[in-house]
Amino acid sequence: MKLLVPVRHYLLILVVLILAGCPSPDDNQPGNLPSATPDSETKSEHTPPPEDQFEMSLQRDPVDDEITRYMLSNDKGMVVELINLGATVTRVLLPSGNGESVNVTLNFEDPTTYKMNPPYFGSICGRYSNRIAQGKFSLNNQEYTLATNNDPNHLHGGNEGFNKKIWIAEEINEADQVGVQFTYVSADGEEGYPGTLTVKVKYLLNNDNELKLEYTATTDKETVLNLTNHCYWNLGGAGSGSILNHELNLNCSQYIPVDKTGIPTGELADVAETPMDFTSFHTLGKRIEQVEGGYDHCYVRDNYDSEGVQLIATLRDPESGRSMEILTTEPGVQLYTGNFLDGSENVGGYAKHGGICLECQHFPDSPNQPEFPSTTLAPQEVYQQTTIHRFKFAK
Ligand code: BGC
Repeated sequence: MKLLVPVRHYLLILVVLILAGCPSPDDNQPGNLPSATPDSETKSEHTPPPEDQFEMSLQRDPVDDEITRYMLSNDKGMVVELINLGATVTRVLLPSGNGESVNVTLNFEDPTTYKMNPPYFGSICGRYSNRIAQGKFSLNNQEYTLATNNDPNHLHGGNEGFNKKIWIAEEINEADQVGVQFTYVSADGEEGYPGTLTVKVKYLLNNDNELKLEYTATTDKETVLNLTNHCYWNLGGAGSGSILNHELNLNCSQYIPVDKTGIPTGELADVAETPMDFTSFHTLGKRIEQVEGGYDHCYVRDNYDSEGVQLIATLRDPESGRSMEILTTEPGVQLYTGNFLDGSENVGGYAKHGGICLECQHFPDSPNQPEFPSTTLAPQEVYQQTTIHRFKFAK
């Protein structure tokens, strides 16, 4: 057979075709983030490039007509994924020594599942996070009645709390941080609360591996407000097992004792010489059996009337060497050891104690507890909260 071109030309074409099928060196360049597809697995399948090749970036990825996912990345290879449904943190990926990333916050695989989200994974809770006794409070001699969605009390804003709302998102791209500002306007009377309330929550990631949450809110009528983020942490990796081996230190010499339904008795009790004491590092599992139902209590930050953010909690996982410090302006932190996680589909399949929440907030039931710091917001005031999560990847 007579060839139209010399054999060496066919060989050249073959070589070009083979090379085209190979990964280009660019595939390892910054911007190729760990897979954006949420998964319930502990590790992302992607092997990140060497550390010096990461760069700060912000990416957006529409999920459906309503839900958009945002991916914040820093130059250390840390990635935070957010969705505008509930202004929710869906994954926090930390690079690990073996070149893989580990997701350290409990999540649902499918972002649309967050429309229900019974455990409140990663979401902003409001208007009033935590409990209000019997769903009732008074302001200016008027009694307000809220949903008693945590029989017999009100919990995390009611049946349709802020965790179920679609928030407006604005991207933040600055030299030293990337982020998203989420805004939600809650109508006067929504879930029984008075006043039109405008809430803004900024999530910011910087190159010091800090995830900063800045909250502001204003109202046109006096109302009550207590915002928090409801991430469940497992520094060994979401789905890797229980957090009972994690060690916790709280800068809190007092906690708030509660009745059987989680409502404060009104007293602030000293933690000293009780299983509630985390003023030095203690393994969570060590004394949990002595606490009926497990830890689900609000701790009182030492010097809580001080200005600015202050370290309130340090969580560390001796096995992986990862740790997280939490600094906040809030007077309290709810320590909740995932006591109601039961392995069911409703809770993403995570088992009891599969994650720990450290929710910075005001004290539970403050609207009915005159001795507690006030959670009333007046029209001329601006609600402000700053909470920082600072991660260390390994030993
Ligand atoms: C509360 C728990 C509640 C959980 C719901 C926590 O903030 O303290 O009692 O079960 O939220 O996910």
